[in-house]
Amino acid sequence: MSYISRIDAVMDRSPVMPVLVVEDPAKARPIAEALVAHGVSTLEVTLRTKSALDVIAEMSKVEGALVGAGTVLNPKQLDEAMKAGAKFIVSPGITKSLAEAAIDRDIPFLPGTANASDIMMGLDLGLRRFKFFPAMTNGGIPALKGLSAVFGNLGVRFCPTGGITEATYKDWLALPTVGCVGGSWLTAGNAAPDVIAERAKALGIR
Ligand code: 3PG
Repeated sequence: MSYISRIDAVMDRSPVMPVLVVEDPAKARPIAEALVAHGVSTLEVTLRTKSALDVIAEMSKVEGALVGAGTVLNPKQLDEAMKAGAKFIVSPGITKSLAEAAIDRDIPFLPGTANASDIMMGLDLGLRRFKFFPAMTNGGIPALKGLSAVFGNLGVRFCPTGGITEATYKDWLALPTVGCVGGSWLTAGNAAPDVIAERAKALGIR
């Protein structure tokens, strides 16, 4: 499978990728189980807590979960996340060193892009799949439509993230260049697993 196909396999697995900020590793498995039970099986664990690597390791034990690391800023964090079990890498931005490390380690990578120049840098590095971030503050759907008009014919696809909600995610998914959306609403408010399960169920994935 080509490198791009492997990123597609991550993007196409679940239409919504929850962005998870989990402090307590003991809560990791119940949260992952609540999501995976309703088809939300691609989980982005941000490296924004001290225990994020433990959370990745715990969530990776849940059958059916594909766990990746988010907020990865440099190759060192990429390697640490992979060692903890991360199967894909998400970043808020794009740098040459991080993109080259991801390609070198052959791990699916979704770098954050906010404008045409970021996407062009990614294209130069051989990437075709990008996070559009922060999606709402960078112009929302009209902005991504504009970027898609320029880059869609090159086969570019996006995972918009940032400011997307239960009320708007379907509008984003309706764009032909959008593979999946990221968002924190499924777990927002330090929600308990039963509440997370209800929110995941409401997506109607299965
Ligand atoms: C993040 O990095 O926290 C994501 O962009 C999630 O954004 P959201 O909280 O607006 O969904």
